[in-house]
Amino acid sequence: MKRSILTVSLICATMSASAAEVAPTNVKFTDGAIAESLTGVAGDPVAGREVLGSRSLGNCVACHQVTDLSDVPFHGEIGPMLDGAGSRWSDAELRGIVANAKMMFPDSLMPSFYRTDGYTRPGNAFTGEAADSTFGPLLTAQQVEDVVAYLATLKE
Ligand code: HEC
Repeated sequence: MKRSILTVSLICATMSASAAEVAPTNVKFTDGAIAESLTGVAGDPVAGREVLGSRSLGNCVACHQVTDLSDVPFHGEIGPMLDGAGSRWSDAELRGIVANAKMMFPDSLMPSFYRTDGYTRPGNAFTGEAADSTFGPLLTAQQVEDVVAYLATLKE
């Protein structure tokens, strides 16, 4: 009896954690921006900085230069310099750009980091094979929030 009560409360705890998260297919854009946090949990700028510079996560530096990330080699120049992005854009706009840049910049080359439907995924960079359609988004909801929190620190 005790055991089944414990099981039920564990299941409830797990469900409420995921219920707070907005699924990639339920994200609401307004003029390219996402007003509400995807998780309700404040982003961690230190974790976000890690995502920008990590090849296996955001790999944003493949296309963008960021002076604060000059310890990471090989910054690309396909996208604009991100210094000052936190002054140019609101948190809601940054969230929209990171989740799906095409809502802000139609035909953007920038990958949609929080999207799972309706577009051709880049293939697997390591094997050269097409992406498996069962993949989740490129970044988790919390990673998007972490990246937004970091970008917001990049003031002019
Ligand atoms: C394949 C290249 C590419 C990658 C990878 C990429 N971006 Fe971009 N990004 C672009 C381009 C190109 C633009 C300019 C908008 C457009 O497409 O017209 C842009 C625009 C932006 C902007 C608005 C620029 C400004 O300051 O005005 C932000 C912010 C941004 N990207 C953040 C990111 C972040 C964060 C990541 C990683 C999670 C990332 N980008 C990954 C290509 C890329």
